This record gives sequence, C-alpha cells and structure tokens, in this order.
Amino acid sequence: MTEPGDSYRLYRELAGWWPLISPPGEYAGDAAVIEREFAAARPAVRTVLDLGSGGGHVARYLSGDRSVTLVDISAEMLAVSRELNPGCLHVQGDMRTIRLGRVYDAVLVHDAVDYVTNQDDLGLVIGNAYAHCRPGGIAVFAPDHTAETFRPGSGAGGGHDGNGRQASFTERTTDPDPGDDWILAEYEFTLRDADGTVTVVPEAHRLGSFQRATWLRLLTSVGFITAVRRLPGHGRSPRVLFVGRRPLADAVE
Ligand SMILES: C[S@@+](CC[C@H](N)C(=O)[O-])C[C@H]1O[C@@H](n2cnc3c(N)ncnc32)[C@H](O)[C@@H]1O
Repeated sequence: MTEPGDSYRLYRELAGWWPLISPPGEYAGDAAVIEREFAAARPAVRTVLDLGSGGGHVARYLSGDRSVTLVDISAEMLAVSRELNPGCLHVQGDMRTIRLGRVYDAVLVHDAVDYVTNQDDLGLVIGNAYAHCRPGGIAVFAPDHTAETFRPGSGAGGGHDGNGRQASFTERTTDPDPGDDWILAEYEFTLRDADGTVTVVPEAHRLGSFQRATWLRLLTSVGFITAVRRLPGHGRSPRVLFVGRRPLADAVE
C-alpha cells in the first residue's frame, strides 16, 4: 500500500479554503447523475456511505432524509464537512482499509478515488466498497480520469465567501509516463484572506488514471455486476461513472 493522498497541503492546512477553491455548487451536475443511479435502485437507497467525502460537497446533495456516513482520511476536511453536513455521521479513516462493521444501500467513491494511483490500492478500495454494500446494493465510483478519457490540459477556478476571503487556482495536467496508472496535476492556489494577505501555494498531485478494462476487471473480480455511465466533463474531457451492483445471493462479509 503506497501513501494515500492524505499528505497534500490542500487537504490539511488549506482545508478551510476547500469550499472556496471547489465550491459546492460545482458538484450539482455529478450529484444529479449519482442521484439517478440511487433513484433506480430497488429497494430505495436510504443509507449511504461516502468514502473519501472531502468537504462533503457531493454529500450535501445526496443526504436529504437519508442516513449518510462520511469517511475521509483528513481530520481537517471532515471538520469542513461537518459545517456543511451537520446531520451526517463523520468518521476519520482510510477508504482502502476502514471497516465500519455494517452495510449500506449505496456506497459512493467520488473524486477521492483519484488519489488511488496503483492497481493494488484500487483493488482495496473496490473490495472495501463491496464489503460495505448490502446484497442488492450499489456502489458508484466517479474518477476524474481514465486512461481513455484523459487529455492533457489546463484549467482554473475558485470562489469567495461572505467574509472577504477569496481563492483561485490554476491547474495543468500532464501524463509523464503513459505506461503507468497516474497523471500529474500541477496546481497553484492563490488565497486572499479577509485582511488582504495573499498566499500562493504551488502543489503537484498524482491522480489515478486507470484503463476502463482495469476498472471493470477489478469490479467484477470482487463480485460486482457492472455498468458504465457518462458524467459531465468539467468543460474538458468527458468522464465515466462506474456502477457496481452487489448480487442479492452473495453472503455479507
Ligand atoms: C477532491 S477531495 C474530495 C471532494 C469531495 N468529493 C467533496 O464532495 O467535497 C479528495 C479527498 O480525498 C481524501 N482522501 C485521499 N486519500 C484518501 C484515502 N486513502 N482515504 C480516505 N480519504 C482520502 C482527501 O483527504 C480529500 O478530502
């Protein structure tokens, strides 16, 4: 098991900037697609586990009257999410290894799965999602990139709050070695505090970019019945959503 994406400053001392860097409204499109999968599931999805829940920006759209458990490796990101999702249970843990001792109607692994950069770890996350999925339940995985959809490029974003804070970032993505399973995202965050102080933080993240066949092999190897959907493309490359259904007949671990 290699180091997870828990060492990045973005998810540690910069966590309080997350709602400005990546505002919750930007997750509405993804949440609508995920909600469609939940709505199609029978029986209805009432309990949800979000592995790698970050600031809880997706969870905010999916909670409603559901019981939602949010797991993230970063205590700082969980603190941010608690502000937005006070009704959800928050648990600190690694999405590859945490065992909560119960199962859910649906397991979601949204873009946190990007921080899985080798096939052994991806297998652990998928196996863990399966272990937490009730028989007949679904698991939804939303990577930003697959090997087939990845296009090198650049982008920018950001936002502000009502207290005079402002954040913006630039992003440049490249694939240093097409022979491996990750790409490089080089960010520069510009953070303007309410008192006018400006901090510029450059940070490079390794993000997983697995072949679709790898995803499907790992999903089926643990027992999921799979489907592939399209996700909104953030204005750049299209994205795919992997959906696994745990068969009814399977015994719970
Ligand atoms: C892009 S953010 C997720 C944003 C989230 N989709 C939201 O709605 O706010 C990525 C998150 O993955 C978390 N993460 C990275 N590696 C992890 C791991 N092995 N287990 C759990 N969380 C992890 C980071 O701490 C970070 O909060």
